[in-house]
Amino acid sequence: MYAGGMLENLRSTIRFRTPTLNRTKAQLDRAANIEDLRTMAKKRLPEGVFDYIDGGAEDEQTLHNNSARFSDYDFRPRVLKDVEQVDTSVSLIGRELPLPLVMAPTGFTRIGNSEGELATSRAAARLGIPYTLSSVGTRSIEEVAEVCDGPKWFQVYVWRDRGLVKEMVQRSAASGYEAICITVDFATLGRRERDVRRGFTLPPKIGLDTILDGVRNPAWTWDFVTSDPILFANVTGRNNADGTNAIALADYVKEQLDPTLSWDDIAWFRSIWDGPIVIKGIQDIEDAKIAADLGIEAIALSNHGGRQLDASPAPIDLVPETVQAIGDQCEIICDGGIRRGADVVKAIALGATACMTGRAYLYGLGAAGEAGVDKALGFLNDEIVRTMALIGATQMSDLNTESLRRRVSG
Ligand SMILES: Cc1cc2nc3c(=O)[nH]c(=O)nc-3n(C[C@H](O)[C@H](O)[C@H](O)COP(=O)(O)O)c2cc1C
Repeated sequence: MYAGGMLENLRSTIRFRTPTLNRTKAQLDRAANIEDLRTMAKKRLPEGVFDYIDGGAEDEQTLHNNSARFSDYDFRPRVLKDVEQVDTSVSLIGRELPLPLVMAPTGFTRIGNSEGELATSRAAARLGIPYTLSSVGTRSIEEVAEVCDGPKWFQVYVWRDRGLVKEMVQRSAASGYEAICITVDFATLGRRERDVRRGFTLPPKIGLDTILDGVRNPAWTWDFVTSDPILFANVTGRNNADGTNAIALADYVKEQLDPTLSWDDIAWFRSIWDGPIVIKGIQDIEDAKIAADLGIEAIALSNHGGRQLDASPAPIDLVPETVQAIGDQCEIICDGGIRRGADVVKAIALGATACMTGRAYLYGLGAAGEAGVDKALGFLNDEIVRTMALIGATQMSDLNTESLRRRVSG
C-alpha cells in the first residue's frame, strides 16, 4: 500500500523540525560548479532517490562516456578579439533563445523536491530557455503552463493507449506548448542496476529502510511527507497508469508503453500536432537521415543520459558525422553529459544548434530546490559566456570546428 494511511499517521504523530534552510543557503553560496551541487544532492537525498537520478544502465559506460568524451577536445583560444560583449543567443525551431540550452525532460521530478516541475520550469522561464515537460512528469501539462511563461515543449512517450497520447498532445497545444519531443530510445526500459539492487519503486515504498533514510535525510523526508502524493500527473485517474500504487518502472513501461512504435507513426503525430516535432534519442546517422527526410524540425542526439542502452555512442561524438550527413536539413541538439558551459560551447563548435541538459538541473533541485536549479543554470550560463570570452568568440556563429582541436590519445 502506498503511503496513504501511514503518512497520515506520521503527519499527526511526529513533529518534524523545520529543516535549517540557512545552512542549505550557505552551502549553495559556496558551491562552485555542477559537481558541487551533485555532492550536496547526494547528502540531502535518500540513497535510492539519488541513485535513481544519478545512475545509468548496466556498467554505466555510456553514462561515463557521455561526459568524458567532451575532454577529447581542447579549444584553440584566439586572443585580442575585443570580447567585452558576448552574445550567446541562437535560433532554435524558429525561436530566438538567449542561450543554446534546453531543459531535458525528466520523469518524476518531484522525487528530488516536492516543487518538482513547477520549480524547474519556473527557473527555465527566468532564463528564457525551453522547458521540456516529461509525459511521466509529476505535475500536469496545465499546472506547468500556469507557472511557466517561458517556452515549453512536451515530451511524448507512446502509451499502448493511443487515445491517451492524442489527448496529452492536444492538451499541450491548448496550453501553449511550442513543440512536442518524441522520445524514441525507450522501446523497453534500460536496466538501471542501482535501482534493481535497491528495489527502487516510484514513488518510493514506505518501509523500514525508508524510515531509516528519513532519519538520515530529514529535510527531504519532511518535504516528502508534507506534500501531495507523487503521481504521474498527466495520466491521473487512468486505470493503473498514474502511479497511485508503488511500481517498479520496468513493469510500468512493459505494461503501458508501446514497443511497436515505428517511423510510420510519425505521420500520425503530424496529423494530431501542428507545431514543430523534435525526435529525441537518435544514435546513428542513418536514423538522423530518415528523420531529416521526413521533415522533422530537430533531432536530439541522445542515449537518454546513459539510462537505456549501455555502450551507446556519446552524443558529442555523433555531432560531426550527423552534421556532415544531414547538413542544414534539420537542427541538431546534443543531449547527454553536459556538466560545464564549456561542453555546450564544444557541441556548438562541432555544429550542434543547441544542447539539452538533465542531471545538471536535477542535482541543483535535489541540493536546494528551486534556488538550486537557478544556481545550476547560472553556472552553465556563466561558463558559456566566460568560455567564449576566453577563446575569443563573441557570438555563437563565431564557433566552428576551427575553435577546437581533437586531442590525440595514446
Ligand atoms: C532522473 C531522470 C529522468 C529522466 N526521465 C526522462 C523522461 O521522462 N523522458 C525522456 O525523454 N528522458 C528522460 N531522461 C533523460 C533526459 O531527458 C536526458 O536525455 C538526459 O538526462 C541527458 O543526460 P544528462 O543527464 O547527462 O544531461 C531522464 C533523465 C534522468 C536523469
